[in-house]
Amino acid sequence: MKIISVVGARPNFMKVAPIIAAIKEHNEKLLLGSRNGQSRSAQEMIEHVLVHTGQHYDELMSDVFFSDLGLPKPDIHLGVGSGSHAVQTAEVMKRFEAVLLQERRDVVIVVGDVNSTLACALVAAKISLDCATVRPLIAHIEAGLRSLDRSMPEEHNRVLTDHLSDILFVTEESGLENLRREGIPRDRVHFVGNTMIDSLLAFKEKADASSVLDTLRLRNQARESGRAGPAIPYALLTIHRPSNVDDRDTFLTILKGLQPLGSKFPIIFVAHPRTRERIKEFGFDHFFGANLAKDARNNNSELSNPIQLIPPLGYLDFLCLMKNAKLIVTDSGGIQEETTCLGIPCVTVRENTERPVTMKNGTNVIGGVTKDGIQKAIDRQLRRKTRSSMPAKWDGQAGPRILEVILRYFRKRQKH
Ligand code: UD1
Repeated sequence: MKIISVVGARPNFMKVAPIIAAIKEHNEKLLLGSRNGQSRSAQEMIEHVLVHTGQHYDELMSDVFFSDLGLPKPDIHLGVGSGSHAVQTAEVMKRFEAVLLQERRDVVIVVGDVNSTLACALVAAKISLDCATVRPLIAHIEAGLRSLDRSMPEEHNRVLTDHLSDILFVTEESGLENLRREGIPRDRVHFVGNTMIDSLLAFKEKADASSVLDTLRLRNQARESGRAGPAIPYALLTIHRPSNVDDRDTFLTILKGLQPLGSKFPIIFVAHPRTRERIKEFGFDHFFGANLAKDARNNNSELSNPIQLIPPLGYLDFLCLMKNAKLIVTDSGGIQEETTCLGIPCVTVRENTERPVTMKNGTNVIGGVTKDGIQKAIDRQLRRKTRSSMPAKWDGQAGPRILEVILRYFRKRQKH
């Protein structure tokens, strides 16, 4: 069997890593079995091709995740880069079509809700219309999530990708209901858990070796021993959605909503490249302190400004910062899930979430995008006593479950 997995943007890499690990384990078992004289079909050996569309291309938005997660280098890089939604989606489609026409393939795996996800699912769905080739099965990992907010580009990507897919892998129970409501046949839908959480659980301990807390001077030194002490209380911030940072007034309101938090703890703002561009463009630099890493090098312990702006971080450094934070304020989807798994209070700076389990079971509250809403949500979370419970099937086994289902579909297709 030949599987093509597609990644494009930062949140895709950790979702695909557990699938690649499961494929490796599957092949190793088959090899071992054949050495021991068991004759499992050679067709069950999986040839895997990893395609990177290049939607994210910076070292810090892409390359570092491959080394942190131990991912193999992409077999094929489409080098698409940035552009408007139409241009980016169209470029991925043009270049991915050439790949699909060249490569014999049985299954195309797409993950999440970024433009690359939709673009490649659409190409795979239509590939047989222009040529005499059988179209591959399309498997969507993280299917069924819905914010019901069509002003988000991701919501279009989610809905359309789900309706193009043959096998839909759902991370939380709300996804089952959403897909049922949209008329997707139940036998295509599989509730398997969350591959992003597989990665989190697999790398949680390793993240402790990160030096990011020391670099950012977020640790108390244990005086007598000179050894590294526990983290000081700090908050972590990520804001990157166009609806939050591209409009000057909205971005300003969010920054004002964060000011009372900044008077309690240092806030570490790990900023997406576009967010940094907007900060410059809108003249918001005065909201932020100097880079703490630079301060540390200059041995300057006086932090003049409570919001410290730093560049994007790799997977392990960011995981270490999440694990040790007192509170996380974000507009990311994935971070709502990761904080739920880690039990760290999270305030989502949006009006909705497509991941309701993070509110029901987890540590997430919706803060909205008004100054009052954000401040109230932060206060509530700082007083929070209740613990979270882990959502169903977020147990680190989603990758193997997904592969088992894909193999079942493949065997069934072989019979016909
Ligand atoms: C994309 C996803 C979003 C996800 C986010 C994670 C879509 C529609 N959106 O949004 O769901 O939460 O990734 O980061 O697919 N840029 C760089 N270097 C890079 C990548 C981007 O500088 O490596 C800058 C460019 O100015 C680019 C802008 O970021 O124009 C936006 O990148 P793009 O991939 O279009 O969307 P994201 O906002 O990153």
